[in-house]
Amino acid sequence: MVQKLALVVGARPNFMKAAPLMRELRKHSSRFEPILIHTGQHYDTKMSDLFFKELGMPLPDIFLGVGSGTHAEQTARIMIEMEKALQTVRPHLTIVFGDINSTMAASIVAAKLGIPVAHVEAGLRSFDNGMPEEINRIVTDRLSDLLFVSEPSGLRNLASEGVASEKVHFVGNIMIDSLIASLEACRKSPILEQLSLAPGKYVVLTLHRPSNVDNQHILTDLLVAIAEIGRHVPVVFPCHPRTAKEMNKGGMLDRIDANALRITEPLGYLEFLRLQSESLFVVTDSGGIQEETTYLQIPCITLRYNTERPVTVDEGTNLLIGPEPEKLLHAAGEIIAGRAKKGRIPDLWDGKTAERIVSLLGK
Ligand code: UD1
Repeated sequence: MVQKLALVVGARPNFMKAAPLMRELRKHSSRFEPILIHTGQHYDTKMSDLFFKELGMPLPDIFLGVGSGTHAEQTARIMIEMEKALQTVRPHLTIVFGDINSTMAASIVAAKLGIPVAHVEAGLRSFDNGMPEEINRIVTDRLSDLLFVSEPSGLRNLASEGVASEKVHFVGNIMIDSLIASLEACRKSPILEQLSLAPGKYVVLTLHRPSNVDNQHILTDLLVAIAEIGRHVPVVFPCHPRTAKEMNKGGMLDRIDANALRITEPLGYLEFLRLQSESLFVVTDSGGIQEETTYLQIPCITLRYNTERPVTVDEGTNLLIGPEPEKLLHAAGEIIAGRAKKGRIPDLWDGKTAERIVSLLGK
């Protein structure tokens, strides 16, 4: 019998995790019928549509169009629409990715409808409940029947929470499947030429964590420090809509030397991949970028005190410094002086994670 699988995506970091699984499932169409549901948590062309095109993903079968709101509003809207969608589709399994509001909302709805849930990127913990994604991770894992883990810390965390080991599978990092599949194509992106950047001679910045960008003081202090770096080496800053909104308030742009930053719109997947892969270093507060830089062996300075992806620190190129301007300037200075942290590629970050997941689903 063909198994109907509902794959749920909602926001930018989901798309590169779902694409490889979608591709792999379509190779086994006699066994699986994947149905792609997009909640519409991210809806701008640059945050969503572009990624489908670049990742070669089919358009969603179902689009819920929930849009933005407070956490409760957004989560509730996703749940209301998801319940209707899952009742219509009646999948054998619902597959969710990562840690966004769409991930948690879909797993609650599926679990209550008695539909088993599989979580791709299970077990990650920052142990910081002030981070909305941590709540999403805990709830999703608690409700999941199949937990696909990307790094060893995930296995330890789930074991210590008492999750039965039969449900848990160490399959590697599926986002790296997308990265490996796109490396060649990204070289054709003209982004370096468009921004007049020389390989290895510029820095990439991304910022969107609420704890960093929703507070005017923290964000201003960080941007002032980064503008200081920008006076020595070009800093490209593809700006998330959440961050752009905050920067346009209260004359913040006058208080930082905005000319020392090259602020752009959010970039496409291929443009951003090329930009990271040829940079001197990356400054970020994203989860996924800590992993992508580790794979690419590009030094990464993370403006957070904790990470749910500790393998990027233990084995990779990631340095956690918190949102601290002084530490940022010091860490940047070290890299510019040629003393960057070296790393290695973690186990099973090999481009074959989707294959492993599909083979486990087959069992
Ligand atoms: C969400 C995820 C976060 C992920 C990030 C990647 C949650 C809790 N957070 O955070 O884990 O790292 O996506 O980008 O699920 N907006 C637009 N256009 C869009 C999407 C958002 O303008 O296409 C604006 C909206 O005004 C919205 C704000 O950005 O209020 C935040 O969007 P939201 O999806 O709530 O959270 P993110 O900060 O993007």
